Amino acid sequence: MNYQNLIVLREDPIGIVRLNRPKVLNALNIELMRELVEALRVLEADEAIRCLILTGDEKAFAAGADIREMAEASAVEMLYRNTTALWDQIQALSKPIIAAVSGYALGGGCELALVCDLIVASETARFAQPELNIGVIPGAGGTQRLARALGKHRTMEFVLTGRTMPAQEALAVGLVCRVAKPEACLDEARKLAAEICQRSPLAVKLAKEAILKAFETSLREGVDFERKCFYLLFGSEDQKEGMKAFLEKRKPEFKGR
Ligand code: CAA
Repeated sequence: MNYQNLIVLREDPIGIVRLNRPKVLNALNIELMRELVEALRVLEADEAIRCLILTGDEKAFAAGADIREMAEASAVEMLYRNTTALWDQIQALSKPIIAAVSGYALGGGCELALVCDLIVASETARFAQPELNIGVIPGAGGTQRLARALGKHRTMEFVLTGRTMPAQEALAVGLVCRVAKPEACLDEARKLAAEICQRSPLAVKLAKEAILKAFETSLREGVDFERKCFYLLFGSEDQKEGMKAFLEKRKPEFKGR
């Protein structure tokens, strides 16, 4: 498919989506978000793809929602547009998605990284929720996902001041899992994706689902859900192969069945 605002690369079993509106630092307008959701839907449905990477360019992962597009909108227009609902479709992906972030990840750009499952940052990455500087608040899940990731007090300081968080601090507070040299950021994300792809795709899928469940349920319900997923995997060929390979001291060959 041809996209106006994205570049999609297939490097089976990894699918890479690059945001591509460099003139406006990958500002997330409605068209880009619709294309992004469509591109991810196609990769999600593709059996040869096991892990996704979402990235931008050197200067910006994304500098936020497109301010020009919403500056004059009324509350009712915003409600009908409801573009941030598109984020729910990214959250609903069953395949793991890694954000590879260089440069600005601001506002909706930071939130887009947060909705991904893992974040690899370049040393140049700069995270912020600067919405309060322009008279609004984060509107694509930032207050909720940051509060869960950083806790209440750190999130208050980060959001209420709109300050910038550099990559090393994001690593220290657990927002990102790896920091790489600018030229190596995407490769680091590829390495991480390759590590995930070596595991059973079924186990990866259920592990992701169980981890996300932790944000939605009580501990009791979460542990019950995890346990059922664990038992369910004993119905898979991958579980038999994985345990057999361990006992035979060889590498397993997972088939996702
Ligand atoms: N929306 C629309 N256009 C944007 C944009 C955005 N979020 N961010 C940057 N641009 C555009 C600029 O208007 C400029 O376009 P022109 O050349 O046509 O003037 C171009 O990108 C380059 O930007 P700058 O000239 O400003 O570049 P800079 O290097 O001087 O500054 C920056 C970079 C600090 C990122 C600055 O552009 C900036 O502060 N951007 C806005 C960041 C922001 O407030 N993001 C939050 C948006 S609200 C949101 O995201 C709500 C939500 O929760 C969903």
